Amino acid sequence: MLLPLRNVFTKSLICHRAFSASQQNFNSGKKGLVLGIYEKEDAPTLTKAGVAFDNLVSGKLKEMLTLSGPPLKKGKSRSLYGLHQDYSTVVVVGLGKETAGVSDLEQWNENKENIRTAISVGCRQVQDLEIPCVEVDPCEDAQSAAEGAVLGLFEYNELKKKKKTVVQAQLHGRSDNEAWHKGVLYAEGQNLARYLMETPANRLTPTMFAELIEERLSAVQVNSNAKVHIRPRSWIEEQDMGAFLSVAKGSDEPPVFLEIHYSGSASATDNPLVLVGKGVTFDSGGISLKPSSGMDAMRGDMGGAATICSAIVTAAALKLPLNIIGLAPLCENMPNGRANKPGDVVRAKNGKTIQIDNTDAEGRLLLADALCYAHTFNSRAIVNAATLTGAMDVALGSAATGVFTNSTWLWNHLHEASIVTGDRVWRMPLFEHYSKQVTESQLADLNNVGKYSRSGGACTAAAFLKEFVTVPHWAHLDIAGVMSNKDEVPYLRKGMAGRPTRSLVEFATRLSEESQKL
Ligand code: BES
Ligand code: MG
Ligand code: ZN
Repeated sequence: MLLPLRNVFTKSLICHRAFSASQQNFNSGKKGLVLGIYEKEDAPTLTKAGVAFDNLVSGKLKEMLTLSGPPLKKGKSRSLYGLHQDYSTVVVVGLGKETAGVSDLEQWNENKENIRTAISVGCRQVQDLEIPCVEVDPCEDAQSAAEGAVLGLFEYNELKKKKKTVVQAQLHGRSDNEAWHKGVLYAEGQNLARYLMETPANRLTPTMFAELIEERLSAVQVNSNAKVHIRPRSWIEEQDMGAFLSVAKGSDEPPVFLEIHYSGSASATDNPLVLVGKGVTFDSGGISLKPSSGMDAMRGDMGGAATICSAIVTAAALKLPLNIIGLAPLCENMPNGRANKPGDVVRAKNGKTIQIDNTDAEGRLLLADALCYAHTFNSRAIVNAATLTGAMDVALGSAATGVFTNSTWLWNHLHEASIVTGDRVWRMPLFEHYSKQVTESQLADLNNVGKYSRSGGACTAAAFLKEFVTVPHWAHLDIAGVMSNKDEVPYLRKGMAGRPTRSLVEFATRLSEESQKL
């Protein structure tokens, strides 16, 4: 049976245009089928769906597989033709060992990662053949299969005349509809973050970012359970957010403080999870100008805001039973005549003064004020995400998001969530050692760069943020290293990665389950 994929982001700029066209082709019977196969010493094993299909074609699937080459290794694919009238091609993909599970060394579920990778390979194969519809083997884990399909097929080509065929992915078979749907929502959430991060800075200003999130959230909300406040400069001034304002004034583009509320809990008074995201829609470095080579990547410097907002849109689409508040200070970091100058001193919302020795360390200035504001809510936890330091990339590369937290409870939840999603986190230190390096400033209470500027750059940035935190459960996620993908994550194409949106969603899911138990 065919179970059409419901696109909950109905106003999606990413997918909706293709719907009528693919539906037409789908009706004419042109579609692909992706089936998984496990490695085994003696004989490869088909999945349940594979076995059923093989029976349907009287054993021809197995026969053709044996005739056409050696057993399929993990992540490898083979396209077969003429097997069944409903499918113009059947792509068989290697899932690795059936016994794979959580790997202690890798800190992720290998089986889930294998499914995501294999399914993405198969779906892209169908896309290359310009077939607009693909049915996907749930591989006994429909959520991971859906994630592999929807993440693997995504490509940002909004601004090109020549576009890849938009492929609609559907679950093959009758079972696991709910898990499939969940996987689609998780992946669409990450794709929304990828879309926002990839969009050029001249096409996604702070105002446009806020309006797009408002639109997406209103499309998925139920009974007005989501509210959006797009706060203008005057509000930011009233809030005494001097650190944020000092960055924003270096650009002609007006800043925005985006505040979103999702109230999914049965009780509106349940303490919310507060998510905060750095939203620098372009980071030139300001007067401490960055080198021009690679500067274009700084259109993705709103990755923190993109991932936390996308996670909240996804939580709303999933109707998670908890309350979440999202805060995103949005602005550009540019070097105009009013821009911050090295040595300038500004005052943050909590009254602390900051000496700005490097205008390129702007993210912590925005976040200082946003964290102060986050403390005005009676939160269960505050989690912020930011493409904060190049040093984070030096430390862990794109393997994992660095997590700096004062709460082992919070760490455990984030860590466990990331093992399931495969979008990993790794704990980093918040030692007093680093705090000393930002609190010894010649002119002010704090300095925006560490005393020994290059050493432990990700840790001194985290120590700076800690100066604005008094709650017992806070985590800072430095996502600079996972901002973009070359080919490290096989089921993501080259480009902005939208990481760790799925881990944030899984974390929120776990938190909502914990609150229901209480
Ligand atoms: N947005 C950058 C950090 C970044 C670098 C993100 C590479 C993604 C990829 C941040 O604003 C920045 O410029 N940080 C400086 C801090 C330094 C001046 C203390 C850095 O990392 O060089
Ligand atoms: Mg910077
Ligand atoms: Zn930045």
